Formats: sequence, structure tokens, C-alpha cells
Amino acid sequence: MTSTNDIRRSFLDYFEGQGHARVPSAPLVPHNDPTLMFVNAGMVPFKNVFTGLESRPYSIATSSQKCVRAGGKHNDLDNVGYTARHHTFFEMLGNFSFGDYFKEQAITHAWTLLTKEWGIPAEKLTATVYHTDDQAFDLWKKIAGLPESRIIRIPTKDNFWAMGSDGPCGPCSEIFYDHGDHIYGGPPGSPEEDGDRFVEIWNLVFMQYLQENDEIVGDLPRPSIDTGMGLERVAAVLQGVHDNYDTDTFKALIAESGALTGAATTGDNQASHRVIADHLRASGFLVADGVLPANEGRGYVLRRIMRRAMRHAHLLGAKDPLMHRMVPSLVAEMGAAYPELVRAQPLIEATLLQEETRFRQTLANGLSLLKDYTLKAESGGLKVLPGDVAFKLYDTYGFPYDLTEDALRSQGIQVDRDGFDAAMAEQKRAARAAWKGSGDKASDEVWYDIADALGGTEFIGYNGTEGEGQVVALVKDGARVDRAGSEDAVTILTNQTPFYGESGGQMGDAGVIANDKLRAVVEDTSKPLGRLHAHHAKIESGEIAVGDTVKLSVDAVRRDQIRANHSATHLLHAALRRRLGGHVTQKGSLVAPDRLRFDFSHPSALSAQDIADVEADVNAQIRHNEAVGTRLMTPEDAIAAGAMALFGEKYGDEVRVLSMGRGDAAHYSVELCGGTHVNATGDIAIFKIVSESAVSSGIRRIEALTGEGARQWLNARDERLKEAASVLKSAPDEVPARVAALVDERRRLERELADAKKALALGGGGAAAPAGPEQVGGINFVGQVLEGLDPKALRGAVDEAKARIGSGVVALVAVNEGRASVAVGVSDGLGLSAVDLVKAAVAVLGGQGGGGRPDMAQGGGPDGSKGAEALEAVKGALAGAREAA
Ligand code: ALA
Repeated sequence: MTSTNDIRRSFLDYFEGQGHARVPSAPLVPHNDPTLMFVNAGMVPFKNVFTGLESRPYSIATSSQKCVRAGGKHNDLDNVGYTARHHTFFEMLGNFSFGDYFKEQAITHAWTLLTKEWGIPAEKLTATVYHTDDQAFDLWKKIAGLPESRIIRIPTKDNFWAMGSDGPCGPCSEIFYDHGDHIYGGPPGSPEEDGDRFVEIWNLVFMQYLQENDEIVGDLPRPSIDTGMGLERVAAVLQGVHDNYDTDTFKALIAESGALTGAATTGDNQASHRVIADHLRASGFLVADGVLPANEGRGYVLRRIMRRAMRHAHLLGAKDPLMHRMVPSLVAEMGAAYPELVRAQPLIEATLLQEETRFRQTLANGLSLLKDYTLKAESGGLKVLPGDVAFKLYDTYGFPYDLTEDALRSQGIQVDRDGFDAAMAEQKRAARAAWKGSGDKASDEVWYDIADALGGTEFIGYNGTEGEGQVVALVKDGARVDRAGSEDAVTILTNQTPFYGESGGQMGDAGVIANDKLRAVVEDTSKPLGRLHAHHAKIESGEIAVGDTVKLSVDAVRRDQIRANHSATHLLHAALRRRLGGHVTQKGSLVAPDRLRFDFSHPSALSAQDIADVEADVNAQIRHNEAVGTRLMTPEDAIAAGAMALFGEKYGDEVRVLSMGRGDAAHYSVELCGGTHVNATGDIAIFKIVSESAVSSGIRRIEALTGEGARQWLNARDERLKEAASVLKSAPDEVPARVAALVDERRRLERELADAKKALALGGGGAAAPAGPEQVGGINFVGQVLEGLDPKALRGAVDEAKARIGSGVVALVAVNEGRASVAVGVSDGLGLSAVDLVKAAVAVLGGQGGGGRPDMAQGGGPDGSKGAEALEAVKGALAGAREAA
């Protein structure tokens, strides 16, 4: 038997051997097309190559492309499990020519591979062509030798393939395999064509035109080829089975589901096992490509797929969560061809376990509500589940609408969709009324209108900085408008965007929104209502209208800086807690491109050693360069798992949990966070704290830099050091010793200078008084005005003079730059107060107060010219005191 993996390989080998570039599958989330929810055909990643917008280094290519058809235009979800050939996830094998070969070569390749390489008997094959395509008709006759009866002209859209309402398109030719007359069905175009006997295995599209809104608007630059072969279908053919679910890959997954649940894989259980196998593949690949379960957009499609499988696991009697235990089998089957599956295995397992654990909490209650209803319905002969019951199942028990439909399918009961939608609308209305009463800003009303009508914006920027989006609303001067033109300042809302809207301290992204008639510069992105990403832009040229398709390009350098700063903030938080204690909690943060700021609770300033250690710890984590992990959990589970959450912050049903670095037991940092982060800590490069300060009592603030910003800061410091070294005429390393020596020397010189000045002042004679003691009231008195004496030297000079005269009073006035300082010393045992005497001098000098001890007091005043008078005043006071005594 030829395995599915062999078939994939042999297809790609064949075309590579024919000169085609082997191109790896693109991720399932299309970043180049806003109209598509998931990549649903092999040509999607090449869309812009067909139209000539993008060029590649090859003109012919081959790929095996991951596709999902669930949600959006192509939705096979409802049928999966109940038919032989429907899948939510499948692989499309294709060969492509971008203006190189056309119909003849495409048909030749297809025929050669099918009949020569793979040996499929020619008589089992039938081709269709678009009814007017005589050329293709003749080529099938010529190349394959097919009789005219097996080249069927089809006049419908079935043989005119278009990617969607917009994009490349053209007539196509399909190849059918006849599984034999033991199976019901007829050839294409016949009344029995919907039977399973004739199965389309390969579609060759002769890409020629460009469509807009389902209208052909022009030719492609050059005729091209796009082909698509369903790998699962061709595997069934080559493995001699009729049913895709009987091929090797599915058999292995179904066997595993049987073994893990202990439920037989045939009979009534068949559909459940098929659903589980199919949905496991879709879930695994979607998670590996960055989609995580959510309540909106792509994440909600994933959730619907997961929960649908989980209900079937429950039906099979699985006692414990099942899906995550099947991931190893999925990886064993498909990991070699898709290494992303191997890389993401832990995330896929954790996400499935989390989702199933959570869903199982309400699943049983929801099912019993359904059962109550169906029992009642049976007795009353009712065939439609009321919309409000379906809504309750959705709202309270987490049953996506299609899960309810699926659950009722076997009993032939339908669901009242209109009633469900009405109940949903009513809930939104009530939420809005509650909001209106909450007193929020009236200016938010416009955002409410948009979110209500159009839903939230899907953020596609966790894994990249570019994407296409469709303009869903424009807001100018606070009101919605349909279009905006050159020079306008306008807020642009798109259905999806890679632009991060400011939240959680992380600044919004900046960048450019453009198409061939528009260039708008986005200065900032905000996140009104927490659900919309509002691009605040200035239109540089051209115009924009609601409905336009635009390319959104985030300033990637700026984003990288923000990512590094955000991840560094998490490491800093963890390092602070380790160093200072568990009382440290985040009180605020700003993650900007050029710096990060982190406020946290801590009673006192950090020591230099604390700062150095925290910085060293963060840098050690950066050097470990471990991958940063993201998981989605309920807030409760996340906190139970040790994630740091911000008290008082409102978290949704799900939170992203970021784990980073290497800790003692697990990760160094685990935090709830919706921001954008580095892939591995090494991307932060370097972390430097540049300031630590107080914000308010009990709250400290650290500002820090990373990466290039830190490098420039350190460089600037280095430059300053070099400048200092050059002034000092020394080497940079010697600057500290040199500066210390200079400071010492300066101190010594100052001291010498002061001594010299004092000596000069004392020895050279003051301006006003004799140097020798005079007698005042029978007491030795020395009074002197000393020009230029350092006031600091005054006390020393008074003490010296006192010692010289043995007993008495010394009063010295130092005059500097017009100001006078005065000191009075009194020997012990004279019964006099130096304080009283100095006050007399201070009053004359125009100052106030003066004080000290009885033996030494000081003061000063602005009238430096009155030094001599001040001394007279001291003398007067001294004489007065003596008389009184
Ligand atoms: N793009 C073509 C298809 O999906 C081949 O059928």
C-alpha cells in the first residue's frame, strides 16, 4: 500500500523533477487576503503572483498546502463525519505556472502523473471542461486519448473556478475517478452526479482573468495554471478504498480514538470517531499556526471545531478529556511533513486539554437540557428547537450553534436560527443599555455602534507585522463617514489587522495603510471598548472608502523594540519579586519603543546593589535565550498555575499566559498578558536600568532600556567617560583614581589657602582694630575685622586668639563679597554669654539672631561695611554686662 505520506512526497518529487520550485505550505491564516478566513486552496498563497503584484524567483512551483474549510464562504463543518469525503482540514497538492506553461502542459503533466507514474488505469478517468473551452476539449483527446464521451462539457460555475468574489479566476477542467458500479452515482453532469461513484480528484484551473465583486474586470498579466488535488481523495484511490476515512492516516487516528475511549469504531459510533479524527487535525494545525480558541473570528471557528469533537468524545463515553491524548498520534502521522506540528505539540496538547476541561464543566448540563427538550418534543411531535433554548445553550453552556444542530441531527430536529439570532440581538441591546447607564463617555457611542454592527477587530499581529484587511468603518471628527480623502485625519477600522491597539501599558502600533490608490500613515492605534483596533491615520495621498481592501504594514522596527521592552518588563517584574519579595506587584507600566517604565509596590528606595543584582538577573535570563511560550487559559487556571495577574484588572473568559525564562522549578516568569512579545528572550539583547525613583509613598518606578536603545545609552556613557579621560589626560580606566586624586588635592589646596588667608588676615592687621588685647570693663578684649577670611575659618581663629590672650573676649568679623560673618569667643569663668555679645554685632550688621553656646557664638549680616561698628557694639555690650555684674 502506498501511504499518504508517500503520495504527497511522490507528487512533489514529480513536479520538482519537472523543474518546479517546491514551496512549503503557507500558514493556514492568510495574511495576504482579508476576505478569507483560512487558506482554502493551494493557490491562495500565490494570489498576488498570479495578478503580477508580487514576483518570485521561480515561474513554476509545486506545493502541498494545508487548507481549512470551516467558517466563511467554504464551510464543510456540518457534513464532517457523515460523508466519505468532507473534511474541515485537508491537504491540497498543486502545481502552478505563473505565465510559464498553460493548458497543454498542465494536462500533459496531470495525465502523466496519474497514469504513468501512479499507474491509475486510463479507463477509470473522466475529464470535464468548461462548455465553451474547445481548446481543452481537443487537448484531452490529443494528449490522453480520451474518447469524446469521457470529456464532458459543463456549462455551470463548477467549471469556472474563482478564488472568491475577488481575485484570479478562469475556466477549469476536472478529473474524475470512477470508483466502480458497486457504488451509487453517475458521471459529472448526469442526474446522479452527486453520488459517490465518480469522485473529482484533480482540478486544473486555466487562470486567465481577474474578478472583482464576482465580475470579470480584466485579464491576468499572462495566462497561468493553478491545479488542486485533494490528497485524502487521491490516497483513497491509490489505496484501493472508496472512503477517505479508510485511508492510512485516518485509520490510525480512528484506531487511537477507539483505543482511548474503548468504544467500537464501527456502527453507531462511526460518525463520532470520524469527527474526532478530522477535528483533531484541524485543531492541531490551527493551533500550530497561531490560532487559539476565542469567542470571535477565527478563534471561534476553532472553538466550534474543538467543542464539536469534544461532544462526540463525550458521546463515546470518554470519562476524561480525550483530544489532547490523541495529539501524539497526529504528530506521528503528519509531523514529518509538517514540522510546525512537532514544534507546537506542547501548545496543542495544553490548549486542547484546557478547552476540553472547561467545556466538560457545562457539557453534561447542556446535554441534559437538550434531552429534556427532545423528550418533550417527541411527545408533542415538535421538530424545531426554539431559538431561545439554542441561545441559552450557547450563552450558559458554551454550545456553539452548530454543535446544537449537530446534536439534534440524528433525531431529525432542526434549530430555529432566527429565534437564536433574535435572542443574541436582545442580549446585545441589554448590554448596551447597561453601558449607557454606566455614565461612560458619550463619544464612545460611535465605537459601540461599530462593534455592535460589525463585531470586534480580529488581531493577526501576534505572529507578524503585515496583513490585508477590509475597511469596515471610517471615523472622522467623531462621526462615521463613508470615505475620506487626501490630508484627512481619519480613524480607519478594518475587519482584521496586525496593528496592536494600545492596552495593558503597551503603546499602539504605528505604520502604513495603503493600496494602489491610497497611502495613509498610522500614527497610533487605540483599542476602544477593548475589541476594536482603531488606526488613527493621516491620509498622505489618495482616498479611502468603506469596503476597500488595504494592506496594513506595521512599522516593524518599532514593533520589535516594543516587543523587547514588553518581554523585558515581565523579566524585570519577576527579578524584582525574587530580589525584594512577594509584596512587589505591578502598579503600572509603560511599554514604549524607546524605553520601558515599571511602577511597583515597595516601601523604600532600592540600594545600588539591589539594582545591580536585578539588572544582572534579567540579563542572565536574556542570555538563556529560551523560547517564550504562549498559552490560553481561564484566569482561574492561570493563577492556579502560578501566573502573576494584576489585581483589579478585568480579564475575559480566556487569558493569554506568557511564560519566559528559566526558573528553579519551571519558568522564570509566568504572567497574564495580551501584549506582543519576543520569540525568545535573546531577542531582548540587553537590559539596562537607567533610573530608580519614587512615584508616591510605597510605589517605586524603574525606567530601563533594551536592545539598541540600551546600546546607545551605554555608548553615550562611554563617550562621556572618554571625554573626561581626555580632559584629565589619562586613560578611561584611570578616570576614577585620577578624579579621586584630584579631589584630595583640591581639598588639601583649599585647606592651605584658608590657612594662608587666615595668617595673612591675622598677621597683616585688620582694617579696624589693633591686634593686641585692649581692656574693656577690666577684661581682655580682642576685636578684629578680617577681609576675605573664609567664614569657616572664623571659629578656629577665635579659638587661637582666645588661647593667645589667656582669658578674655575675642570678637572677629570676616568680610566676604560684602557680607559679614561674626564669631565671639568668651573664656570660661567670666560669667559672660557669647550669645548675648554676638547678637549685638549681628544687629549692627543688618542680620538677625545669632547663636551658639556661652563660650562661642556666631552670626552674620549683609552689611559687610559695618564690621568696625559691630565690634564697637560688642564692646558696648561687654561694658554694659560688666557694669551690671
Ligand atoms: N484552486 C483550485 C481548487 O481549489 C485548484 O479547486
